[in-house]
Amino acid sequence: MENRYFESILVTGGCGFIGANFIRHLLEGGHYDGRVVNIDKLTYAGNLENLAGIADRFEGRYHFVHGDICDGDLVGSIMEKHAIDAFCHFAAESHVDRSIAGPGAFVETNVNGTFALLEAARERSDKIKLFHHVSTDEVYGSLGNEGYFTEETAYDPSSPYSASKAASDHLMRAYHRTYGLPVTISNCSNNYGPYQFPEKLIPLMILNALDSKPLPVYGQGKNVRDWLYVEDHCHAIWQIMTHGRTGQTYNVGGRCEKTNLNVVESICDILEKIPGDSGRGEKRSLIQFVKDRPGHDHRYAINCDFIERELGWSPTVSFDQGLAKTIFWYMENQDWVRNVKSGDYRNWISQHYGKDRK
Ligand code: NAD
Ligand code: DAU
Repeated sequence: MENRYFESILVTGGCGFIGANFIRHLLEGGHYDGRVVNIDKLTYAGNLENLAGIADRFEGRYHFVHGDICDGDLVGSIMEKHAIDAFCHFAAESHVDRSIAGPGAFVETNVNGTFALLEAARERSDKIKLFHHVSTDEVYGSLGNEGYFTEETAYDPSSPYSASKAASDHLMRAYHRTYGLPVTISNCSNNYGPYQFPEKLIPLMILNALDSKPLPVYGQGKNVRDWLYVEDHCHAIWQIMTHGRTGQTYNVGGRCEKTNLNVVESICDILEKIPGDSGRGEKRSLIQFVKDRPGHDHRYAINCDFIERELGWSPTVSFDQGLAKTIFWYMENQDWVRNVKSGDYRNWISQHYGKDRK
């Protein structure tokens, strides 16, 4: 098993949901004692508030750069300035519905952005110990009612989002095979937990249910996703970065298949048990079946035996625990919710920007 140490990691998209949890995992969790440089374009999905307090608490070890991964010159200059020896690449357009409405930004960031990062890394490959790419199980397409995705499953993406992620995975492998760049790739199932932008299923349903608004379930709610608590995903990524084999793909999943309807009903049931206003009313009666997503993949389910065998990783947070933690986090962080959902969030950025930019 490898045992890598990094002095200076360039995290891309660190102000998004998983990236912010990952940076907190490394720094607050005490898993890493080197430097983290976070490049983020601060799209609608990227919020500086997701890392509030980190720049102050980890002064000298955490640096934020407001920038676009497609800007290869900027990435090169960051690498020189901060002596980057590893990448952890999260930055992406990540929402399937948005990719159906407007695929252009997905090709730009997910394909061209990944290419720009790879080129910057290739030009300085003598300095790079590892380039880790965070990808998705959606590259494998849709499963029927049986079977699992393994690391050998052929790619068969359905949406512009998953096609763009598939392209980025192929570029990663090509740079490894052709130029010898030391890369690892993880393909993970659906994440949930704190700081997820409330357009994705779980936070959207929690917030709508709290406000007694309709809960829009696509089709008949029978599509299946494999849910993983975000902290478990962060731990898996760090195991791969520190101990994984270069050139290797690792599937990461929660061993936790649920239909969408089942997820929404579980949220309703937990909320109904909470005393006080939030629990009031028949939450399940808010469920509305709406028009299905075009090209909606029926089922995702990850076989994660390989990462368990090779790196000793397996999911630790049960769906019941993780969902309850997530619901309480959204209930306790109503300011965050208001900020990310309102135009005021932009004001928050301009007020805090100077302070967090290091
Ligand atoms: P997210 O949408 O919450 O965050 C994406 C981040 O990337 C944001 O901070 C955004 O500002 C930044 N970004 C977007 N375009 C950029 C650009 N051109 N330059 C710099 N920064 C840019 O996404 P997420 O859910 O945290 O997902 C992170 C990664 O993990 C993605 O690559 C996604 O494909 C992958 N993934 C997500 C899940 C999931 O369930 N959320 C599961 C598997 C894999
Ligand atoms: O599988 C990993 C992927 O999981 C990641 O690569 C993506 O970045 C991430 O967004 C997620 O993709 P999904 O499309 O599975 O997530 P989403 O939360 O958008 O939808 C989950 C399921 O819930 C899906 O079957 C569609 C359904 N859905 C979603 C929304 C937003 C609804 O029924 N109603 C909704 O309002």
